[in-house]
Amino acid sequence: MTHLNNKLIDRFGRTAKKLRISVTDRCNMRCIYCMPVNNVDWFEQENILNFHEIIRVVRILADLGIVKVRLTGGEPLVRPNLPSLIKLISRIHQIEHMGMTTNGIGLQTNAARLKDAGLQSVNVSLDTLKESRFKAINGVDGLDKVLQGIQVANDVGLSVKLNVVVIRGWNDDEIIEFTELSRKTNFTVRFIEFMPLDGTSMWNNHLVVTKAEIIKKLASEGIDISPLYNDYSEPARLFTLNDDRGRLGFIPSISEPFCTNCDRIRLTSDGRLLTCLYEKPGTDLKGLLRNGKTDEVIKSSILDSIKYKPEGIIRLIRTESLRARMNLMHRIGG
Ligand code: GTP
Ligand code: 5AD
Ligand code: SF4
Repeated sequence: MTHLNNKLIDRFGRTAKKLRISVTDRCNMRCIYCMPVNNVDWFEQENILNFHEIIRVVRILADLGIVKVRLTGGEPLVRPNLPSLIKLISRIHQIEHMGMTTNGIGLQTNAARLKDAGLQSVNVSLDTLKESRFKAINGVDGLDKVLQGIQVANDVGLSVKLNVVVIRGWNDDEIIEFTELSRKTNFTVRFIEFMPLDGTSMWNNHLVVTKAEIIKKLASEGIDISPLYNDYSEPARLFTLNDDRGRLGFIPSISEPFCTNCDRIRLTSDGRLLTCLYEKPGTDLKGLLRNGKTDEVIKSSILDSIKYKPEGIIRLIRTESLRARMNLMHRIGG
């Protein structure tokens, strides 16, 4: 639901309703589509917002119209005491939904505590179902742990979606297996087009496996899907498998960019407000927070930034200016 007095409106008429909070830039994985392999340039510890600072920003943004929060990273579960932050956010009455995007490694041990603290859903990254391949894509061995974590999250009552970043030559031969997984488990499996937010600088257009290509591949294997009602402010286009078991989603950032309906903004772990995945460096809220500025001053800085939210990837595509490593996913939180 949109907050009646939402003030987070940009010059293209888009209204922000969702906030993604990156709680850390650290991660216990090294996915090829995200982090540099070596020499990761981590944020200094003293530059990471504490919970008090994060909550202050969330309260201000909730007053301005934010109704949904998603915790991201790096890997959010490597941030110590995350359930305390979740508890604090869940007390902000305007926030109707809180989810988290995680690599799943820490879910087995943490899911119950997260749920008790007030988390409602998890989107879990799962790019391969082959143990032998997991390390090549995600940098560590961990398939079993992630699969068990997904199960535990579901068992404790968190709503679960699976995120698959599809990269040509790496995991595009597993589309049918992932579709079967959705049938067997009833989890929504979402195929994500690879975006140039990679630390490895490997991104190029040829590696992107598009929504249309996947649908064609499914059809060639006799798997028909039908579109569900779609909320175009969501990045995922949802489909049912025609035997009514399982649900697929596509996040077609490259082939069908959804910037015109974008309703999200981001807070990085070092306290910058990003109004778009492709904005750099964003607005330094940490400086304001740590220099004794009032809520009114912070509000007005936020409103100025929102006004100038970039048009988005849609413009970069139109001007043919997409290239590898345009931003670093582990620093901005996806
Ligand atoms: P829900 O739809 O609320 O479940 O979450 P989500 O899909 O927005 O979040 P998630 O963190 O699971 O992200 C899935 C994919 O969507 C990731 O690859 C994100 O980077 C991508 N994504 C999220 N927000 C944006 C956005 O504003 N623009 C684009 N192009 N991609 C986005
Ligand atoms: N392109 C698309 N999605 C990505 N993610 C991480 N890096 C990329 C990328 N370069 C996904 C992760 C996670 C979410 C936050 O973003 O798999 O599900
Ligand atoms: Fe870590 Fe997520 Fe980036 Fe993978 S995509 S390296 S799990 S932050």
